[in-house]
Amino acid sequence: MADRLAAAEKRLQDSAADAPDVRVAELTSHVVRVGGKRLRPLLVVLGAEFGNWWTDGVLQAAVVVELVHVSSLYHDDVMDAAATRHGVPSAHVRWGERTAVLGGDWLLARSAQLAAGLGPQVLRVNARTAGRLVSGQMRELVGPAPGEDPVSHYFQVTAGKTAALLAMALEIGALQAGAPEAYTAALSTYGEHLGAAFQIADDLLDLTAPPGDTGKEQGKDLLAGVPSLPALLARADDSSEGAELRALLTGGAVTDPADHRRALELFRDAPARQRAVGLMHQRLDLAREALEVLPPLPARRALDLLCDYVALRSS
Ligand code: IPE
Ligand code: IPE
Ligand code: MG
Ligand code: MG
Repeated sequence: MADRLAAAEKRLQDSAADAPDVRVAELTSHVVRVGGKRLRPLLVVLGAEFGNWWTDGVLQAAVVVELVHVSSLYHDDVMDAAATRHGVPSAHVRWGERTAVLGGDWLLARSAQLAAGLGPQVLRVNARTAGRLVSGQMRELVGPAPGEDPVSHYFQVTAGKTAALLAMALEIGALQAGAPEAYTAALSTYGEHLGAAFQIADDLLDLTAPPGDTGKEQGKDLLAGVPSLPALLARADDSSEGAELRALLTGGAVTDPADHRRALELFRDAPARQRAVGLMHQRLDLAREALEVLPPLPARRALDLLCDYVALRSS
C-alpha cells in the first residue's frame, strides 16, 4: 500500500504542476507541495481493497479526489481569511485573492479532466461531490434560516463541505476495483460518518492545537467568526458557568486579542467542548457500524483504526 500511495503522490505532484506557464504552475502546485496528510488518497486505496481486481485507475482516482480537496483549500482560505496553511503563507496571501481563487478553479478542472479518463460513472461522482462541497461552503456563509437549529444546519454544511469528499474517495476506489455494490454503499456510508467526525475533530483542533502541529493559526475559526461546532454549542449553553464564553461569542468573529485569548482559555474546560467530543464519537460509532457488512480484510481493520486516528489526531 505504501508503494501505491507513493506512486499516487508522484502523479499528484505532476498533475498539480502541469500548468502551461511556470508562474501559474507555481501557484497551482503550491498547496500540494507544502504538505497534507493525504487522507483522501489513502481512502481511495483502502476502498479498492474490497474490489475484485487492481487497476491503474485506482491511482488516478486517488489523484482526482485529492485535487478536488486541494482546490477547495485555495477557496476555503479566502473564505476564512486564513493566513497560513501547512505553516506557510496561504495562496491568497502570496498571490492575492483573485489569483488564488483561479488557482483553485484550475485544480478542479484538472480533476474533472482526469476523472473523465476513468469513465462516466467516476466523472458523475466527481461532479456531484464538487457540487455538494460548494453547496456546503455556501450554506456555511449564508447561515441557518430563521428558526432553523444551528447545530442541524452545521451537520448539513459539514456533510457537504467535508464528508462528501471522504465518501467519494472510498466510492471511486471501490468502483475502480470492481467492488460489489453492497460494499461500495457501505464504504460510502462509512465515509459520510467519518467525514462528519473528521470536521468536528478539525473544529476542536482549531481551538486547542498549537500552530506548530496543524500549520494553521490557533483559534482562526474564532478570529474569522466561522461557526464551528464547539462555538455553536457554547453559544447555546445557557448555564451560568457558560455565560462569559457565550458573551464573547455572540458578536460572531472574536478579533480583539485579549478576548480571543480569553475565549480559547474558557474553551479548555467548557462543557460545549465536551459535548462536541461526544457528538464526534457518535459519528465514529456509526462509521464503525457501517463496516460490519464488509468482509474481514486487513483494509477493514485499517478503516476501523482510522476512526481511532480521527479521535486522537493532533494535526
Ligand atoms: C482540511 O483537511 C480541511 C477539512 C476538511 C477539515 P485535512 O486536514 O485533511 O487537510 P490536509 O489534506 O492534511 O492538508
Ligand atoms: C474546510 O473546513 C472544508 C473545506 C476545505 C471545503 P475548515 O475551514 O475547517 O478547514 P481548515 O481548518 O481551514 O483546514
Ligand atoms: Mg478553513
Ligand atoms: Mg478548520
